[in-house]
Amino acid sequence: MGIKSIILAAGKGTRMKSEKSKVLHHIFDKTLLGYVLDAVNDTHMVEQSYVIVGHQAEAVTEFVNKNYADNSKTILQTPQLGTGHAVSMACSELENFDGEVIILCGDTPLLTSDTISDFIEYHKDNKADITVMSAIFDNPFNYGRIVRNIDKTLKKIVEEKDATIEEKQIQEVNAGVYCVNWNKVKKSFTELKSNNAQGEYYLTDIISWGVKHDLHVQAYTLKDNTEILGINSKIQLAEAAKILNKRNLIKLMKNGVTIVDPDTTWISADTEIGTDTIIYPSVYINGKNTIGSNCTIGPMAHIRGNVEIGNGVRIGNFVEVKNSKIKDNTNVSHLSYIGDSELGSHVNIGAGTITANYNPVTKVKNKTIIGDYANTGSNSVLVAPIELEEGAFVAAGAVATKNIKSWALALSRAPMKIFENWVKQAK
Ligand code: UD1
Ligand code: CA
Repeated sequence: MGIKSIILAAGKGTRMKSEKSKVLHHIFDKTLLGYVLDAVNDTHMVEQSYVIVGHQAEAVTEFVNKNYADNSKTILQTPQLGTGHAVSMACSELENFDGEVIILCGDTPLLTSDTISDFIEYHKDNKADITVMSAIFDNPFNYGRIVRNIDKTLKKIVEEKDATIEEKQIQEVNAGVYCVNWNKVKKSFTELKSNNAQGEYYLTDIISWGVKHDLHVQAYTLKDNTEILGINSKIQLAEAAKILNKRNLIKLMKNGVTIVDPDTTWISADTEIGTDTIIYPSVYINGKNTIGSNCTIGPMAHIRGNVEIGNGVRIGNFVEVKNSKIKDNTNVSHLSYIGDSELGSHVNIGAGTITANYNPVTKVKNKTIIGDYANTGSNSVLVAPIELEEGAFVAAGAVATKNIKSWALALSRAPMKIFENWVKQAK
C-alpha cells in the first residue's frame, strides 16, 4: 500500500507579521508549502497528501486545489489546539487506512525529496512503528529536545517551554517530521493530553505514548541540519532563500556553468543551463527556464520565467526577458525588454528595444515574432501583435506598428532638419 502524508499548515505564523499565511510566502516563484508538497511528491512514494489548514484556510485551500488537486486535499482545523490536534483532524479520512503516514510541516522549504525518501526507507528497513527525524544543533534553543534512555533508545520529546535545565542541555532536537504506522499509532490521538506549558495537544507526545505501548520507536538523524530550518520570520525566510539559491548555484556550477559571483546571482531550481554559459554578477533568474550552452547572461539581467534560450545567445546588461523563446546566436545586449516573444537565430536586438506586449486598455498580452537575421535599431518599440520576417530591419528610433516583410527596412522617424549656425545666431 502507498504512503500518505499529513502536512501541518494551520498555524498563524505570528512572527511573520503578515496578513498572508506563512506557508504562502515565496522563495523565487514557489510558495513554502509548494516546496514541501513538491519534495513529498518527488519521492514517488506518497500517493496522497492531506494539508491541515486553519489560519487563512481559504487562501491555502485555493492554492492546494489549484496546483496539487490530483493527489492533495486540505482539511480544516479550527480552532488550532496544537500539532497533535492538527494531525487528529485527518483521523476520519484515514479511518480505514492501513499503511504508513508521514507527517511534515508546511514551513520547511529546505527539506529535500532525497532526505524524505531516505527517511521513509530507514523507517521501513527497521520495521519501525514510529520514526522521528532529529538533528544535532549547537544551539538547540526553541526546538523540542529528544530525550533518550541510558541505552540510547528513545524516551520522549520535551518542548523548550516544558524542559528542565538538564533537558535544555540536550543538543539533539526534533525536526518535526515523523513516519508512523497509522494503524498502530492512530489511537494515540484520542489519548493526547494538553497539560503542558502551552496548553496544547502536542504531536511530540506520540513518542512517549509509543514507548509506553511497546511500539518500535526510533529516530533518524539528519546529515545536513539546514534542511529542517523552519520559517517563522521574514529574517528566516531570507536565510532559507539564500541557502536554497546556493544549492541551485552549486548544482549548476557542478554541471559546467560559470557563475562569476555566486553572492549576487539568483537562479531558481527550475532553470536549466548548458555548459560554458557564463552568468555575470547581479543576475536574477526566476521560474522555469532553459538556457543553452555558450551563452552570456548579464551583468544585471532579469529572466522572469517561461523563457527558452538556445546556444550562443547574449543577454546583456539591464535586459529583461519573460515568456519568450530565443534561438541560437541571437544578441539582446543592452537595455531591452523582450516579453511574449519568439526570436529566431542570428537576430540582433539593438540597445533599448522594447516589445510593447501589453495593452492596458484591453488587458491583453500580445505576441512579437522576429525571424532569423532580423535587426532592430536602438530605441525601437515593437508594438505587439507584430511580426518581423526573416532579415527585416527596423531602423533606430522606430515605433513599429505593422508587420515587416523579409529583408525590408522599416523607418518611422521625423526627417531630421539641420539649421546651419543656428546656435551662434540665437546667442
Ligand atoms: C514543533 C515541535 C517541536 C519541533 C519543531 C520543529 C510540537 C509540539 N513541537 O514546534 O518539537 O522541534 O516543531 O520545527 O509539535 N500547526 C497546526 N495546528 C496547530 C499548531 C501548529 O497546523 O494547532 C502547524 C503550524 O502551522 C506549523 C507546524 O504545525 O506548520 C508546527 O507548529 P509550530 O507551532 O511552529 O511548532 P513549533 O513550536 O515550531
Ligand atoms: Ca515551527
